[in-house]
Amino acid sequence: MDKLRGGFSSRLGFILAAAGSAVGLGNIWGFPTQTASNGGAAFVLVYLVLAFCLAYPAFMAELLIGRYGQANAVTSMQKMSRTLWQKRFAFIVGFGGIICAALILSFYGILAGWMMSYAIEPITSVLGFNETSSWLTSQSMMRNLIFTGLFMLLTVAIISRGVEDGIEKWSKRLMPMLIGLLILLIIYVFTLEGAEEGFAAYLKPDISRVFEPDLLISALGQAFFSLSLGTSVMIIYGSYISKTENLVSLGAQVTLIDVSIAFLAGLLIIPSMYVAQYQGVAIFSDDGSLISGPNLVFDVLPTLFNSMGSIGLFVALGFFVLMTIAALTSSISMLEGPVSFAVERHNVERKKATVLVGLGIFILSTIIILNFDELFGLVISLSTVYGQPLIAMLCCVFVGWIWQRSQILKELKQGDDMVEHSFFWKIWPWYTKFVCPSAIAIVFFHSL
Ligand code: PHE
Repeated sequence: MDKLRGGFSSRLGFILAAAGSAVGLGNIWGFPTQTASNGGAAFVLVYLVLAFCLAYPAFMAELLIGRYGQANAVTSMQKMSRTLWQKRFAFIVGFGGIICAALILSFYGILAGWMMSYAIEPITSVLGFNETSSWLTSQSMMRNLIFTGLFMLLTVAIISRGVEDGIEKWSKRLMPMLIGLLILLIIYVFTLEGAEEGFAAYLKPDISRVFEPDLLISALGQAFFSLSLGTSVMIIYGSYISKTENLVSLGAQVTLIDVSIAFLAGLLIIPSMYVAQYQGVAIFSDDGSLISGPNLVFDVLPTLFNSMGSIGLFVALGFFVLMTIAALTSSISMLEGPVSFAVERHNVERKKATVLVGLGIFILSTIIILNFDELFGLVISLSTVYGQPLIAMLCCVFVGWIWQRSQILKELKQGDDMVEHSFFWKIWPWYTKFVCPSAIAIVFFHSL
């Protein structure tokens, strides 16, 4: 491995870092909200199938591009190109992913800032600072600016240290904490009255809903957002994996962790909703739809925590610290995309690049905060509904149609001699060439 670029020092380091990127607000906030509004267990079932059958192959395409190129997204894809047009196409796809990552970070930082302020609120509440508590949990421009800024500072501090010291070390610490906290909270919620009904709603699918077009499309979008596809992030992380590692199994393990954490988060939040309902909080309207929608986590859970008495303060603290941790391991991956591009293509020193890019994204977040009603939803749909599926689709097109089959096999064989005889090799190249791009195209055009 190129010593100047750095890389993951161990297999575990990569798995935790990539899983850290994948696991974030998408799993813990997005997935349960989508599950609750899309038929409960039926959505979970479809999500599981799509994550393994469609998102995993696309994820492998991005990892392979990165490990082959051993560089940022643009350089990696240009190394695979043979003609001038292919190189131009590589630039558009690679740079598009980098822009997409920066846009996602600009709204993700705001959301993560909310998580941070909700994590501090239980402390101010114990200390009796009631005014501060209500400031922390109500929408205001000042609160948003301060906490988005704080969150960006944390992200910049970790990324400026590079791959081994920054990303790997932090993910190693944060991921196990995250899983531990989730499991503890699930055990707690399950001791409460009303959780059983939520458990059934989460695990007993209504098979008749499984083929509903809206449900299918939401589940597919959720799977791609959750695996951080179409943002150059997994190309970069792929480029930090050693050539001796078995990429197919590494990718499968990360997918498994990502999906399991989304599943665990659902197991916490869906029963929590029913517990809240049992305690008199209105969650579903008469027609069965969710009342709070995207505000589920911010509206319903604090109400639930409050109604638990003094222990609720600890639960609230645990939950929002957990959300902040999950957001941080994702935001560092988003910042790494643009930073590695600036370092490798424009020879900017790493610390300087991190501070400059971080500042640029914070300015973007500030513009969003100052024009919240007009811009917040717009940037989310621009980057996640349009940007991510389109770029993930183009990455599959790149691997399926531009990269030579023999080269792909050669890359896959590094770290796994027997790959040629595997089920993966028999199915995946064909899958990536035809099935993935068409399926993603369907999602994309539907969202238009
Ligand atoms: N996958 C992350 C989540 O679930 C979000 C993310 C998207 C991270 C794109 C990196 C790039 O929250």
